[in-house]
Amino acid sequence: MNPDTSNAAANTITKDFLPLHGTDYVEFYVGNAKQAAHFYKTTFGFQSLAYAGPETGQLDRVSYVIRQNKLTFVLTTALRPTTEIADHVLRHGDGVKVLALMVDDAADAWKQTTDRGGKSYMEPHVLKDENGEIAISGIHTYGETVHLFIERKNYKGLFMPGFRKWESNYNPPSAGLLYVDHCVGNVGWNQMNPWVKFYEEVMGFKNILSFDDNDISTEYSALMSKVMSNGNGYVKFPINEPAEGKKKSQVEEYLDFYGGEGVQHVAIATADIVHTVTDLQNRGIEFLKVPSSYYVDVLDRVGKIDEDLEPLSQLGILIDKDEEGYLLQIFSKPLQDRPTLFFEIIQRKGAKSFGKGNFKALFEALEREQDARGNL
Ligand code: FE2
Repeated sequence: MNPDTSNAAANTITKDFLPLHGTDYVEFYVGNAKQAAHFYKTTFGFQSLAYAGPETGQLDRVSYVIRQNKLTFVLTTALRPTTEIADHVLRHGDGVKVLALMVDDAADAWKQTTDRGGKSYMEPHVLKDENGEIAISGIHTYGETVHLFIERKNYKGLFMPGFRKWESNYNPPSAGLLYVDHCVGNVGWNQMNPWVKFYEEVMGFKNILSFDDNDISTEYSALMSKVMSNGNGYVKFPINEPAEGKKKSQVEEYLDFYGGEGVQHVAIATADIVHTVTDLQNRGIEFLKVPSSYYVDVLDRVGKIDEDLEPLSQLGILIDKDEEGYLLQIFSKPLQDRPTLFFEIIQRKGAKSFGKGNFKALFEALEREQDARGNL
């Protein structure tokens, strides 16, 4: 490469104004945090980590923090009927409130994003205890979901000031869940592109993949999706909107029952999906099933894979490939009473995509569930 070209290339690389190190935690507002924490420990193999409530000076709520490898969930519920949390649960049911992101500088993350049009949710401030300090700030995103920016480089405690250790005699074994791979948002009609623009302009993300209603449609319903990624690819947020079909889109069903826009699914990485899904099924998690015909020609589509096909087809694990490799994935049924939030378990074997080749089979499976609820 001659020096002129390399300089030109260097000049086009703009500095990432919002460097992110990944997902710090996912916080759910739920109807009963004590029971939700027990459920996630039992079914997904999380461990108790920390607790906040009246005993720690937090009078209007309790929060249970659970962890598995790099995956941290916070389950929060209201102790009083007239709080923002109680109102959130009343309108949305159990759902994701906070997608917290790891940053080096929470004050700067807030300044960079609010200067670019982000709406402040929490001004930068510092939380302190004997283990050090955490700087925190936040902005709003789609629906009532928010992003918090967490700077924990000066903190040595378990989770955050205001929380105490939650010791439990009940410590179910890990299911091999590792970290958040991506979190998908469902937004309203014609709202995908405005939210794509938000992630581009306010947070410096790039649109790395797009799916239109031709990619994601069945005989009955359709949706559109664009995948937004931050600079290093550690944080990926696909955004879905409904599309016109003969019947109601799964995204519309979500919007109806959630009472607006919100997180549709959290995808969690594993290094051994057969082991993880076997374990989760044994612990009571129900997954969407595709017809056995899916497995007849799947290897013609994806080529050679390391795993035996038999356990994959028994468990209902889906396979897809892209230019860089393949991936294995499966989707749970909704994890609460409303047909809203669900989980994806994903094992990437080189592939960086999201399972486009599985969309049709998967959405037909989803529609069978939707139809059984009378919402198709
Ligand atoms: Fe996904």
